[in-house]
Amino acid sequence: MRDKDQIICHCQEITYETILEAIHNGANTVEIIGDITEAGITCGSCIEDLEDILEEELE
Ligand code: FES
Repeated sequence: MRDKDQIICHCQEITYETILEAIHNGANTVEIIGDITEAGITCGSCIEDLEDILEEELE
């Protein structure tokens, strides 16, 4: 289980809660999450986590 305050994207300090919000507002790809939150757009090392979260939320 992830904590809502857990930082998922360390480059931009984006929390799990912010990612969830983006998904619940309609983001259904990692690219759109990046557009909305700026997560994943710098080093890219969090993209795998973003994909996992997307999968969990969209299933
Ligand atoms: S940790 Fe997310 S872009 Fe670097």
